[in-house]
Amino acid sequence: MGNFLAGKAVAVTGAGRGIGRAVALACAAEGAGVVVNDHGVSVDGAEPASEVAQAVAAEIEAAGGEAVAVADDISAMAGGQRVVDTALARFGRLDGAVCVAGILRERMLFNMTEDEWDPVVATHLKGTFTVFRAASAVMRKQGSGTLVGFTSGNHQGSVAQANYAAAKGGVISLVRSAALGLHKYGVTANAVAPVARTRMSANVPMELKEIGEPEDVAALVVYLLSERARAEGITGQVYTIAGPKIAVWAQPRELRAAYADGTWTPERIADFLPGTVGTDPMPMLARLDAMARAAASGDRPNR
Ligand SMILES: NC(=O)c1ccc[n+]([C@@H]2O[C@H](COP(=O)([O-])OP(=O)(O)OC[C@H]3O[C@@H](n4cnc5c(N)ncnc54)[C@H](O)[C@@H]3O)[C@@H](O)[C@H]2O)c1
Repeated sequence: MGNFLAGKAVAVTGAGRGIGRAVALACAAEGAGVVVNDHGVSVDGAEPASEVAQAVAAEIEAAGGEAVAVADDISAMAGGQRVVDTALARFGRLDGAVCVAGILRERMLFNMTEDEWDPVVATHLKGTFTVFRAASAVMRKQGSGTLVGFTSGNHQGSVAQANYAAAKGGVISLVRSAALGLHKYGVTANAVAPVARTRMSANVPMELKEIGEPEDVAALVVYLLSERARAEGITGQVYTIAGPKIAVWAQPRELRAAYADGTWTPERIADFLPGTVGTDPMPMLARLDAMARAAASGDRPNR
């Protein structure tokens, strides 16, 4: 047991399985009291079960740590609030809120139903908002705290998961907004785009050459929650951790600009744009064939 998070209280959503579970266990092992939230659903978000959160809380306590389980659905405002209220009731403070909960409903855009779009966006994007909303109110008063959102490399776009990709892009903008809006209150906010062997990644139909374990991701989250990261002023960042690789994503910025003499017309833009501002080639577009081949050959992570 280390002491990276000694005396802190951390809430983790989706902490019953996969990456969230590893994050909860690692936070407890580093000295934090942990709120273990998990609605206990299947990969597509069905069949909730409260035992999933309870089992991880019990595992932490059995190892000598402190934990409390919350089985609520964080896509509802009341669920996010309960996660935060539980931290206050049990630990009297909240230093970290880590939003890991997620589901998948894969479908090509032209076939996607409202029932495939809404729950995915609600779990990832609104589910990060509900917890960030409640946690940030507490952290603002405390004058300290760290928010961590979970995104994906798929925020760049996805062939068959437009719902998931859109939600994960939204999580990044939400994290950056939190970093900006809470900076003056001593609160940091960052996003993690992991690649780790879980039941969810076993279903991802794409090439995953670089993949690691949930424990690798947990180590990064512990660091981001720690005073070491806060002292470095790390906020508004997106990090990927994939086995031995750790990477920071670029901030969005204008790449090239050109200016008109007078007003724009479609004709002037057609003459002007290709040779001046041009395009920024889309890396994933160049990998479409390779991804399709990998999906067709069943080249997927083995867990
Ligand atoms: N595993 C990867 O390689 C990978 C890659 C990119 C992004 N991610 C992201 O990392 C996060 C964790 O993924 P994982 O692979 O550990 O998945 P997982 O399926 O193993 O775990 C997700 C957990 O979230 C819980 N959950 C789902 N909806 C919930 C809700 N409404 N309220 C509370 N809990 C809920 C589930 O019950 C489950 O235990 C997700 O946000 C996922 O999108 C994972």
